[in-house]
Amino acid sequence: MKCATNHSMKRIAVLLTALAVPSAVLAWPWSQDMMNQPSIKPQEGAMTPFPARSVPVMGIPTKVANREASRDLVNPITVNAASLKEGRTLYRIYCAACHGLTGKAESPVASKIGAIDLTDDYVQQSMTEGWLWGTITFGSYVMPAYGVAGEQGGSNDLTVEERWHVVNYLKNGLVKESQVAAK
Ligand code: HEC
Repeated sequence: MKCATNHSMKRIAVLLTALAVPSAVLAWPWSQDMMNQPSIKPQEGAMTPFPARSVPVMGIPTKVANREASRDLVNPITVNAASLKEGRTLYRIYCAACHGLTGKAESPVASKIGAIDLTDDYVQQSMTEGWLWGTITFGSYVMPAYGVAGEQGGSNDLTVEERWHVVNYLKNGLVKESQVAAK
């Protein structure tokens, strides 16, 4: 009788010790309650489709059928120093080889393949920003396409935003720079 009481008192002591030491109670069912909430975790199940008629928050079209459909696109990227700097860098990497560093078709290959002067009125006045973006995206007759490979048949070298930065530079930086270079 005395012995049994001693036993149960020991058990209670062990249980109390276990409850008091956090590392010993990690395996209790309620230890994971906070983690296993009735919510959808990352990678769990199929992605919920966007509600009908949702529009991208940035409003930047990533899929346009062709150059013609780009003509009236509104340029979503503000012209500022950062955009012009980015556009200038990209222009010098991707466009200058054919159209020349100052855009005046002064590159060695320009006359051979018919790369045009991008500083004249034909480009600066008569082309919309959308058309320029569309030309970079889909290419022209000889001119290569820099849009998304597969979907738009281009090289995927320039993102949607990067193409608009190039447009900003074409319309707001290139002519000024070519005039300085000519002096
Ligand atoms: C491999 C040479 C080459 C490269 C690189 C190139 N172009 Fe061209 N581009 C041409 C040629 C050739 C034409 C004229 C024939 C044509 O329309 O395809 C042209 C035409 C254009 C036109 C006039 C389109 C029209 O409707 O008449 C624009 C604008 C233009 N290029 C901008 C760019 C920009 C911006 C880049 C860089 C992202 C670039 N090009 C890179 C060769 C090139």
